[in-house]
Amino acid sequence: MIHAFHAFPRGFLWGTATSSHQVEGDNRRNDWWQWEHQEGRILEGQRSAKACDWWGGRWEEDLTRAADAGQNAHRFSIEWSRLEPEPGKWDASALEAYRGMLQGARQRGLTPIVTLHHFTNPVWLMEQGGWLSEATPGYFAGFVRRAVAGLQDLVDVWITINEPNVYAYAAYSAGAFPPGERDLRKALAVMQAMILAHAMAYHTIHEIQPQAQVGLAHNIREMQALHAWHPIERFLASLRSRIFNQVIPMAVHDGRVRLPGRTVRIPEAQRTQDYFGLNYYASESVAFDLRARGELYGRSVYPPGSDVSPTGFIANTPGGFWRSLTWARRFGLPILITENGVEDAEDHFRPRYLAGHLRQLWRAVNFNWDVRGYLHWSLVDNFEWERGWTQRFGLWELDPQTQARRKRPSADFYAEICKANGLSSEMVERYAPEAVDRLFPRRGPGEIAFEPPN
Ligand code: FCB
Repeated sequence: MIHAFHAFPRGFLWGTATSSHQVEGDNRRNDWWQWEHQEGRILEGQRSAKACDWWGGRWEEDLTRAADAGQNAHRFSIEWSRLEPEPGKWDASALEAYRGMLQGARQRGLTPIVTLHHFTNPVWLMEQGGWLSEATPGYFAGFVRRAVAGLQDLVDVWITINEPNVYAYAAYSAGAFPPGERDLRKALAVMQAMILAHAMAYHTIHEIQPQAQVGLAHNIREMQALHAWHPIERFLASLRSRIFNQVIPMAVHDGRVRLPGRTVRIPEAQRTQDYFGLNYYASESVAFDLRARGELYGRSVYPPGSDVSPTGFIANTPGGFWRSLTWARRFGLPILITENGVEDAEDHFRPRYLAGHLRQLWRAVNFNWDVRGYLHWSLVDNFEWERGWTQRFGLWELDPQTQARRKRPSADFYAEICKANGLSSEMVERYAPEAVDRLFPRRGPGEIAFEPPN
């Protein structure tokens, strides 16, 4: 029997992604720690507590797992509130701890990719107005200067800010992240502040480390009208998609922030990406809903019949990944997949999600598109923000009480992919048999049905 093999380019980065607050534990000086201690903020009243105990040293065993499983990269984040616990006061021991982690990654053959802002903020920053304060981009650039000066010998690839669109929306419009504001106008102002903060960070990093690769992790969520015939839904889907998906990538390309009804110029943001970092989880449909006023009268849904994850959070829509890659490609930059994954404690869904998405990524590299790597979210179950521990994204399962880890089948599946530098139909037969007919359809002896061109 002949097997299909989807080969990836030599030197392709295969890894996983984590963020400081979600894995370290004991991040007592950031806004999330406070938020978790308020009633009703986190599902089932859960808290990050020790998380995966990386601050206690368990990053060592987890990175060893990653390296043994054939990975060659890891995306971390640096916690601002540890490095600068009070304004202008720098904690040298925290910097040393991060140096230890980064050296540990490199010793294991994992290329570190480091995020400087991943949803959390020092408490002192929030007390001074958070991302609505004009001083914040400058404070951020000051933190970035310290962090990069102290770590530059260990890091070549930086991500300034993780998903500024998600952060601005969740913290200032949906009220799900601290500070829990519910005002779309504030969210738009925060997006603007983050574009400026990114631009300042970009220039700061290049001043210190001219050869660094600097980008953002953009969350791209394809949005379509739930009913293609519905003109209002079509309008809403395109409006929301423009605001959510396009404003930031376009602003860091040409320095123009295209807000609804007006364009703001931030000239220093022009050409401030060396690569396009893409986080992709799912495509969604937009339903017209008069009750959803704060959401511009649109509600996000997965159409009936979608293949959705166990908690209904993510739909398996790899076609949207392909179209997001196609869109990202217009900027003419190398692309790095900075996150992709799914919550699935039982690991029944993840294998076919992984296979389907890697197949679309392979289409891209097969057309010689400059995709440099893929970072799966996540290495080990971790604290999933307002959804606490109810969603499990890890290749390894974690019991946060005992800190015991257990490998899920997807960890082996992914290890085979990383080690082979590609995905084969035979692997899919073993790990996601239900997806074989869709991914590698065979009709009758010798007759192969090809996917229609996209
Ligand atoms: C992304 C976040 C990441 C994690 C995944 C599931 O939006 O960047 O921290 O929560 O979703």
